[in-house]
Amino acid sequence: MMPKIYFDNNATTPLAPEVAAAMAISLKENFGNPSSGHALGEEARRAVEEGRERVAALLHCASERLVFTGGGSEANCQAILSAVLARPRAHKIVTSAVEHPSVQQPLNFLEKHHGYQIQRLPVDAAGRLDSARLRAALSEDTALVSLMAANNETGVLWDLAELGAICRERGVLFHCDAVQLAGKEELRAEEWPVDYLSLAAHKLHGPKGCGALYLARTAPVTPLIMGAGQEGGRRAGTENVAGIVGFGLACELAAAHLAGGGREKLAVLGRKLEAGIRDCCPGALINGGEAPRLANTINVSFEYCSSAQMIQDLDDRGFAVSAHAACHGGDLDPSPVLAAMAVPESYRHGTLRISLSRLNSEAEVAAFLAVLPEVVRRSRQVFV
Ligand SMILES: Cc1ncc(COP(=O)(O)O)c(C=O)c1O
Repeated sequence: MMPKIYFDNNATTPLAPEVAAAMAISLKENFGNPSSGHALGEEARRAVEEGRERVAALLHCASERLVFTGGGSEANCQAILSAVLARPRAHKIVTSAVEHPSVQQPLNFLEKHHGYQIQRLPVDAAGRLDSARLRAALSEDTALVSLMAANNETGVLWDLAELGAICRERGVLFHCDAVQLAGKEELRAEEWPVDYLSLAAHKLHGPKGCGALYLARTAPVTPLIMGAGQEGGRRAGTENVAGIVGFGLACELAAAHLAGGGREKLAVLGRKLEAGIRDCCPGALINGGEAPRLANTINVSFEYCSSAQMIQDLDDRGFAVSAHAACHGGDLDPSPVLAAMAVPESYRHGTLRISLSRLNSEAEVAAFLAVLPEVVRRSRQVFV
């Protein structure tokens, strides 16, 4: 049976119907190359710039501060590359132990092949980062700090204003992977002490393969994709016009959702789900439960259970959830994020990440809670 109830919104979100409609029109009508001099080119160029204005409005920044990319991973890679190339004599990068692979892997590459020293700050059992550790880690030799705004697995939020201020004080470039924050919390790119901020359209009911990198006015930038002069010479390649149209509209819808109290509504639903899980599955461990978190994310571990078994069982019953980052795919190893939080081994293997969106309802949460105890019981029987 195909899942009917979708609770895996941190992996990706369904395209908003309005976005799908706008993209379908754009695919047909804005087929001109935005760099062409004729009217069709002009029309496509206008669609791209309108998309940029709309994304900028969600971030509260000037539109020229945004570079469109092929998604969040590309934005992360470009921020990292731009910073290290601008600070050729600095060979240290500070990050955390719980970053998304699209930050971890480029840093691992720089460590392995270019002699960079990567300091991965630990988190506590609730997934919190101690700002004193960041302060202590910075030195003259630090090229970049890269820390995420909201964790994709646990939803744990870090205080960007505080972390960024420490970087500013020390004159260190600060990149923030805000892929999971956008559309769920207020974004104030120009007010925050950040140099780079990464976004992905598909996490906020926009299309896949489309993202953006916000660059502060003083942030050095190098194109990751080199070629012609699109995006002001900051990212080559003919623009993904329909994707940008969809991204722009998705941002506008997300802003309207937040302005209309959507965050609080989602938080009510999230709290119902979390309370329901605690109620129907005593002993369940809510990972990051003690920390400030995204309203939509519940990461829960059940002792002596198997994530794979529970996900399959839930899928058969019509619910789509995951264990950890989607990019780990079929990899059933327990999450490195939970390992960094020292979640006990006996729980780590039995983890579910349940991530909601504005399209979910109370009835769906109730339906999930009605089947969960049986799913956990069956998994425990198999596991033990
Ligand atoms: C925190 C975070 N950063 C980056 C990415 C990568 O974004 P994309 O899939 O658009 O490359 C993801 C996607 O899962 C994410 O959750």
